[in-house]
Amino acid sequence: MPRQLFVTTALPYANGHFHIGHIMEYIQADIWVRFQRMQGNQVHFVGADDAHGAPIMIAAEKAGKTPQQFVADIAAGRKPYLDGFHISFDHWSSTDSPENHELAQSIYLALKEQGLIDVRPIEQFFDPEKGMFLADRFIKGECPKCGAKDQYGDSCEVCGAVYAPTELKSPYSALSGATPVLKTSDHYFFRLSDPRCLSFLEQWTQDGKLQPAVSKKIKEWFTKDENGEGGLGDWDISRDAPYFGIEIPGAPGKYFYVWLDAPIGYLASLKGYFAAGGPKARYGEARSYDEFMADPNVEQIHFIGKDITYFHTLFWPAMLQFSGRKLPNQVNVHGFMTVNNGEKMSKSRGTGLDPLKYLSLGMNPEWLRYYIAAKLNANVEDIDFNKDDFMARVNSDLVGKFVNIASRAAGFIAKRFEGKTTADIGEEGKQLLATLQAGRASIVEQYEARELGKVLREIMLLADRVNEYVDANKPWELAKQEGMDARLQEVCTVCIEAFRLLSIYLKPVLPVVAANVEAFLKVEPMTFASAEQLLGAHTIGAYQHLMQRVDVKMLDALFEAPPAPVVELPKPGGEDIADTITIDDFVKVDLRIAKIVNAEHVEGSTKLLRLTLDVGEGRTRNVFSGIKEAYKPEDLIGKHTVMVANLAPRKMKFGVSEGMVLAASHADEKGTPGIYVLEPVAGAQPGMRIR
Ligand code: 2FM
Ligand code: ZN
Repeated sequence: MPRQLFVTTALPYANGHFHIGHIMEYIQADIWVRFQRMQGNQVHFVGADDAHGAPIMIAAEKAGKTPQQFVADIAAGRKPYLDGFHISFDHWSSTDSPENHELAQSIYLALKEQGLIDVRPIEQFFDPEKGMFLADRFIKGECPKCGAKDQYGDSCEVCGAVYAPTELKSPYSALSGATPVLKTSDHYFFRLSDPRCLSFLEQWTQDGKLQPAVSKKIKEWFTKDENGEGGLGDWDISRDAPYFGIEIPGAPGKYFYVWLDAPIGYLASLKGYFAAGGPKARYGEARSYDEFMADPNVEQIHFIGKDITYFHTLFWPAMLQFSGRKLPNQVNVHGFMTVNNGEKMSKSRGTGLDPLKYLSLGMNPEWLRYYIAAKLNANVEDIDFNKDDFMARVNSDLVGKFVNIASRAAGFIAKRFEGKTTADIGEEGKQLLATLQAGRASIVEQYEARELGKVLREIMLLADRVNEYVDANKPWELAKQEGMDARLQEVCTVCIEAFRLLSIYLKPVLPVVAANVEAFLKVEPMTFASAEQLLGAHTIGAYQHLMQRVDVKMLDALFEAPPAPVVELPKPGGEDIADTITIDDFVKVDLRIAKIVNAEHVEGSTKLLRLTLDVGEGRTRNVFSGIKEAYKPEDLIGKHTVMVANLAPRKMKFGVSEGMVLAASHADEKGTPGIYVLEPVAGAQPGMRIR
């Protein structure tokens, strides 16, 4: 009986394109999926965009799009990455799909039915201007510990302190700049602290199905400290409107927090795949989605990054368990990918690895698949992309040890033997091929266990054996000797047979090379079972080079900082820079620090404030300034500013103005908050000249 596998990768937020971290995860999962398919198992490999949440709603608003349009545009950009790296998803959906709305609501109702949903009032910061509650990341202010300005609501990037957003000094909304106010609202909670949940999770996370490091980490999360703090708390699953998400049934104005419906998106995508007839077309699957998922033999397998372990090993299984659904059989957690010795990825410094740039430089996607596979194991470890290491693995191992075997033998078979291999193989060749065939069991075992580095090491050791055979039997010399035709054909046949076996083993990693090998050898699509039989006397096709070496120039180009984007020069502040003047022109303008000793409204004027300025002359000056819309008089009194001190006095309707105060504004943004009176850095004294 073939296994029935439902396989997913983490659903990417639909607010940006894929980065190398996504591609690494997809390559890891895709290799495993292709391996399973080659074993004759039935796999449904699905993904989707994670569409909901406040950040996406706000990004859409900024882009002047509806959230639906915004996520659709992101989704439209996925294909070049997935096709480019040969990621073989069967189906791709979105968490905003009708299936997900329906499933999320019914899972919630089932949890409610179980008595696992609580409603409690929560006091939270609210942006009065935007009319919405603010997630921690949208609140900024001064760090309560070190006083650093503009820190986020949960932690300080300067001193590392962690705090509640309500502890920030002078908090402001990162969305509008408004001062947030505390407001109470009802939130919905999933009662994870319920004894039923706790005992289920304690068992489910510790029964050996998860990676040991993952089970260990979860144990820490369960443990309360000596003050009884920590442990598993209830989970706040609701957000107030406005929110881009799924409405909570029976709770008007309340939406599911994005992380509630995100993993349900796995099920929704599979359901959509069934609705589209995919499993039927591929495997003749006659059952509906519901019937399929009710089958206890179906295995549910997730690939995720270590940062989202909590959601996938606690919240997700609990949601499934208490809504009466199938539980994950595997949650395979991987580490992060760093680039060039763990340098933090940064686009501007050119240290990141941009997947589309990789492809556009003509770099072979299978180099990256091979390299990533070579670095991966079944543990939660970070892996580093390193240029020299990449060159070595691709050029020395993949091309030097594997691809070259075919090129060393294929020419002779084509030219000298009309493309025919022979069944007549001597003892040495037979033994070599038997060794290669015997390698299959362990390779299969390591693939199954996601020990991809070990898989490739074993395959390369076998390739070494083949190359030793070639070096010992020297077909290029046999080709020059009289009467050695049969021997030459035999040696070259052994090479071709060996090459085919290695190609089978590498096929999950190198699907395109494998397809080209199948065409070249004129064989049916290879599976692991194909390794049981040798080709024997067979006619192969013409050899075409299967893979180039990496040129270091490509890698240099890949990590070169992108050229500064060519953009139409903006008009700074909405107007062109004025004509050039000389320093002599400039010094004609006498700019001085002035203290605003008084400011008041001007009766009858909607624009002007009357300022009394001290410029250190032993007297004050009277200046009318058109800043009434932007400032209250009391906010200006006592401040220092900059004035033009040698401007000819001007008689105005309300009196004489003896100078001009300097202020900044955008050319077409007059009025609040469009005018900013200049203020010197603290310490400047009235009368000081500005030059
Ligand atoms: O961390 C993330 O990128 C999330 N969008 C992953 C969601 S995985 C699943 F739960 F949908
Ligand atoms: Zn701080």
